[in-house]
Amino acid sequence: MKEYYAARAKEYDKIYSKPERQADLRLIETWLPQNYIGKHVLEIAAGTGYWTQFIAPVAASLVALDSSAETFEVARNRVSEKHVQWLIGDAYEIPMPDPLFDASFAGFWFSHVPKSRRREFLIGLNRVLQKGAKVIFLDNSYVQGSSTPLTESDDEGNTYQHRTLADGSLHSVLKNFPTEYELIESIDGLGAHPAYRTWQYFWAFEYEVA
Ligand SMILES: C[S@@+](CC[C@H](N)C(=O)[O-])C[C@H]1O[C@@H](n2cnc3c(N)ncnc32)[C@H](O)[C@@H]1O
Repeated sequence: MKEYYAARAKEYDKIYSKPERQADLRLIETWLPQNYIGKHVLEIAAGTGYWTQFIAPVAASLVALDSSAETFEVARNRVSEKHVQWLIGDAYEIPMPDPLFDASFAGFWFSHVPKSRRREFLIGLNRVLQKGAKVIFLDNSYVQGSSTPLTESDDEGNTYQHRTLADGSLHSVLKNFPTEYELIESIDGLGAHPAYRTWQYFWAFEYEVA
């Protein structure tokens, strides 16, 4: 996964050009930043900064974490706010901040977390967030004809897609499409006030740290 996204950095943003997804993207780009006004935000797996560019202008500060230096090369050219810090690191071992963040966002990340690591990720995230902090995960829904077909599943129920990069290399990438119920279940004891919303091609799941 880490190696795949490092290799894909320069061509990653093609997914944001799919014509059929443009209407949804404009709606989300308006909705999402409203949740982060004046907040000290931790963005998990920020990648090429597509969502950072909408959140950073309204946030008080933003730490963008990603395992790939290559994706940050793209992100740095896109986001100019001085209060953004680019941090290379592991979403499963988030460094302890001082003070704790009061909001968090992860775009197209939760779908790549293996089912067996969801709790580990969520507990680690809670550790660095204040009680009551708003968390939003944004991701895509499986839409026949637009989404890359699922090719296989493993013993714990994770699903995979075969993806080909411009250099011809083929990658099997873990990509899950969790239900609303699964999302609510995953934050049991960790989060309160869950809310799930959908657009035609995307879903968002929000909660507050308990
Ligand atoms: C699907 S991309 C999402 C990028 C961005 N959030 C967006 O919505 O456009 C997933 C990102 O997760 C990063 N990543 C993969 N494994 C990671 C890990 N263990 N810790 C932090 N980032 C990771 C990849 O480098 C990649 O940028």
